[in-house]
Amino acid sequence: MIDIDKLQKQSGIIGNSDVIKQAMEMIAQVGPIDITVLITGESGVGKEMVAKAVHAISRRSNSELVTVNCGAIPEGIIESELFGHKKGAYTGAEVDRKGYFETANKGTIFLDEIGETPLETQVKLLRVLESGEFMRVGDSKALYSDVRVIAATNKDLGELVKKGEFRQDLYYRLKTVTIKVPSLRERIEDLSFLVERFALEFTRNNDIVYRGFMPDAIRAMKQYDWPGNVRELKNFIERIIVLEKGARITKEMIDHHLEPVMPAVEYNENLPIILDRSPEKAERELILRQLLLLRQDVEDIKKFIASGSNFENNEIKYLPYTSDSKNIKVVESSDRLIKSDAIGEFKLEDVTKEAIERTLKYFNNNRRAAAQALDMSERTLYRKIKEYGLDPKIKRK
Ligand SMILES: Nc1ncnc2c1ncn2[C@@H]1O[C@H](COP(=O)(O)OP(=O)(O)OP(=O)(O)O)[C@@H](O)[C@H]1O
Ligand SMILES: [Mg+2]
Repeated sequence: MIDIDKLQKQSGIIGNSDVIKQAMEMIAQVGPIDITVLITGESGVGKEMVAKAVHAISRRSNSELVTVNCGAIPEGIIESELFGHKKGAYTGAEVDRKGYFETANKGTIFLDEIGETPLETQVKLLRVLESGEFMRVGDSKALYSDVRVIAATNKDLGELVKKGEFRQDLYYRLKTVTIKVPSLRERIEDLSFLVERFALEFTRNNDIVYRGFMPDAIRAMKQYDWPGNVRELKNFIERIIVLEKGARITKEMIDHHLEPVMPAVEYNENLPIILDRSPEKAERELILRQLLLLRQDVEDIKKFIASGSNFENNEIKYLPYTSDSKNIKVVESSDRLIKSDAIGEFKLEDVTKEAIERTLKYFNNNRRAAAQALDMSERTLYRKIKEYGLDPKIKRK
């Protein structure tokens, strides 16, 4: 029998709540057995961590765990990515190419966001799940891969089946062994452990003195809903430590930074939005909102970093920061919105492009995180990056 505490240490999955312990027990039970596992749970709950833990205790742990984000691969090439293609299968296919299923032979393949897989591809996935057989695109020879499949989704696949967006046969095949990863709300008692770990890790990695959280600050965080779950909590902890310059975190600071993000943004009448609700306007409103929030964060952090801040004596000198933005006039840091005299000088496309570029920079080119922050599917984000010719390696400076 696998020791649950040891498994948690190895996998880095933190939590003492009953629900997390149950999930851990499930991992321990099914990990070593060569069966397909479906991992469900809201965004940011730790599904990928669970997938890694399952692989790590499996008999395949010495072979590769190949992770495929089904939601991020454009529909046109997903089959070629998964199953490979034969030379000449389509324009540009100049050589035979292996797909992920071949690469993962003897190991595990992790199909993340399986709910995003196009219906035609689902048929082929079902076949590979049932027999290990598949064909390269443009080839008629069946190949075989000895691979264990772990799939994850934050969608309700049962609902997708009802809507005709997911094949019922594949759903039944996948759901036999399901590990449901609980939301942070369902295990709020774990919050203090998570906070402690994230804060320690972050301060250690950045040479910041860790001064801890006041008990009422923890209580205040427990009142919040955490729709983005553990990922949101982790980002929040890192942000508050930076913005509060390494000070001991009080309830007041939490209340200040943890205002419900969406409703808290107040629009002033100068903003060129929500005058009416056409889809274009709604999209623009969304993008602007994200841009405004991001700009504030990025600027706070940039200023802080530029100041060569010293956490030790708690004295922070801010260097004057000037925005490098050409398209949007950035106003004083106390003013969160675009100045009305900037209106007319930019197009929606400029705003979208800048929002994407800066969001990517902010998340260090983590496209998943950026897509999530922009409330955009990863596929759309990829398309826009291409469309705007954005540098694929946008990095924080
Ligand atoms: N129980 C946990 N203990 C420690 N860290 C966690 C835990 N759960 C999640 N995390 C951290 O939260 C972040 C999100 O986790 P992960 O990527 O596994 O979530 P996910 O469920 O796959 O999210 P998504 O649906 O957005 O893909 C990661 O940084 C991860 O390390
Ligand atoms: Mg994930």
